[in-house]
Amino acid sequence: MRFLGRSGELTAVRRSIGTLSPQERPSAGKVINDAVAGFEAQLETKAAQLRSDALEAQLHTAIDVTFPAPPARIGSLHPLRRAMEDACGYFERRGFAVVLGNEMETEYYNFDALNIPPDHPARESLDSFYFANGMLLRTHTSPMQIRTMKVHASPIAIVVPGKAYRRDAFDARHSPMFGQLEGLMVAPGIHMGHLKAMLTGMCREVFGPNQAVRFRPSFFPFTEPSAEVDTTCPGCGGSGTRANGEHCKTCGGSGWIEIGGSGMVHPDVLREAGYDPELVSGWAFGCGIERIAMVRHELDDIRVLFENDPKMLAQLA
Ligand code: PHE
Repeated sequence: MRFLGRSGELTAVRRSIGTLSPQERPSAGKVINDAVAGFEAQLETKAAQLRSDALEAQLHTAIDVTFPAPPARIGSLHPLRRAMEDACGYFERRGFAVVLGNEMETEYYNFDALNIPPDHPARESLDSFYFANGMLLRTHTSPMQIRTMKVHASPIAIVVPGKAYRRDAFDARHSPMFGQLEGLMVAPGIHMGHLKAMLTGMCREVFGPNQAVRFRPSFFPFTEPSAEVDTTCPGCGGSGTRANGEHCKTCGGSGWIEIGGSGMVHPDVLREAGYDPELVSGWAFGCGIERIAMVRHELDDIRVLFENDPKMLAQLA
């Protein structure tokens, strides 16, 4: 500005050319123009130097390529999905076929074929969501036992991952919709020991090597004998008492958590599905997926598994 601007010193000198004699003007003009060009060239050189110095400084200070990047926000599988995939995977790797059924079933497959006739008291506790056409949302994944046996001859080994529905209010331990993993193995000579071995193996894989499994005598119309499947409570390691000496709330002090039902397939069920109970026998089980996730993550309220609060789920990932 001071030298080259419109009212700068060089401009003033240029204007003063008018006061010179005509002979002197050309050479004076040339001197001034050369001087201006020289100044401008130097200015441009200096400006380029300043620009590259600034860039160089920025490269050295602002961008530290060794600085750790902010963590990427990566999603994860939902704990219920993971529980299902892990439990199911255990059987898949042992040659079990995965079959998927329909969530809408007929009364025949959901009840009658499973030895639960219309007047059976077990229907009452299972009575569910009916459609106008008489079909219902399946109350368990067991209908797939019948559907599979009707189309496949023995031997069979299947698992059925899926959803089931019951008329239960939503509370800390119940949900009207829940996940089940059903298992069925039928062949000559199959006995309860096979069932025990498979479920114990599955629990050890899903929960850890020290996990125990207990078979507690029970009743299901479609198995005989029947047993509830219990596994070591994660809250107290099976002792019923927490490390701090308190009574374990997760299992109510029993040291066990129930994860499902099981038993030897009832001869009536085998016959109904077209098998001869004199020639083949089988075991079946149905495990609750929310129960598996509860045990795994030491939850005492299953609602956190359905509310899908990302902050909560991130802690379970
Ligand atoms: N279907 C039973 C339930 O939902 C579980 C079960 C499956 C029991 C297979 C025995 C054999 O409670």
